Amino acid sequence: MIRFISFEGGDGSGKTTQLKLLESYLVSKGMACCCTREPGGTTLGRMLRKVLLEVDQKEISSPAELFLYLADRAQHVQEVVSPALERGTMVLCDRFSDSTLAYQGFGRGIELDLLRRLNRLASCGLIPDLTFLLDCPVDVGLWRIRKQVTAGLRSGASAKAERPLGQDRFEQEEIEFHERVRRGFLDLARAEPDRFCVVDALGSIEQVHKEIKRIVDERLAAQHNAK
Ligand code: TMP
Repeated sequence: MIRFISFEGGDGSGKTTQLKLLESYLVSKGMACCCTREPGGTTLGRMLRKVLLEVDQKEISSPAELFLYLADRAQHVQEVVSPALERGTMVLCDRFSDSTLAYQGFGRGIELDLLRRLNRLASCGLIPDLTFLLDCPVDVGLWRIRKQVTAGLRSGASAKAERPLGQDRFEQEEIEFHERVRRGFLDLARAEPDRFCVVDALGSIEQVHKEIKRIVDERLAAQHNAK
């Protein structure tokens, strides 16, 4: 049964655009969708997102950062995700627990088993039924972000940013950090091939959307036939 779909990927991989396109597609098929995101899917989450992504917050320690993401998730699951699933609504989520494993685990070096236990607590054991991993080379993702900022399609950075590689605290990390995150996501996908679908995010928006639609249609048909 696919009810809960998450979109994961590095910064600039296009997941937000693809999530919105999938929402339009599912709504056009008469399905009710709840689109949400982490961090920032609740009032508390929006406050946490601001703190987490603020360029000037360089002094946040890795454990503090981790607990803020977990706090966002705990509130989000309880206030938004679980109630929507209970109502029978399809949930499309821009990032979920896998981002914590990729960024705080593979990126920051916090032990994965510990993160898995903490994720379980924060998410009340909720795991997406299907996860799209939008994969693209790190330099392409960061280049897309810069292009969006220049075009005014993504919020701008603090004028004080010394190293304006990207536009938030994460986008300003070293390339090697983003490479570890990318490899981490791919490792996670390899470990759970039934849940993860890796989509080549180098394609055009239309090509990527077509591939995502194909996979969702296939899963929905399989679900229908199994009834
Ligand atoms: P985004 O929603 O614009 O992709 O930005 C969210 C940023 O937060 C992104 O750089 C990934 C990061 N992040 C984590 O480090 N850990 C997490 O658990 C989540 C949900 C996001």
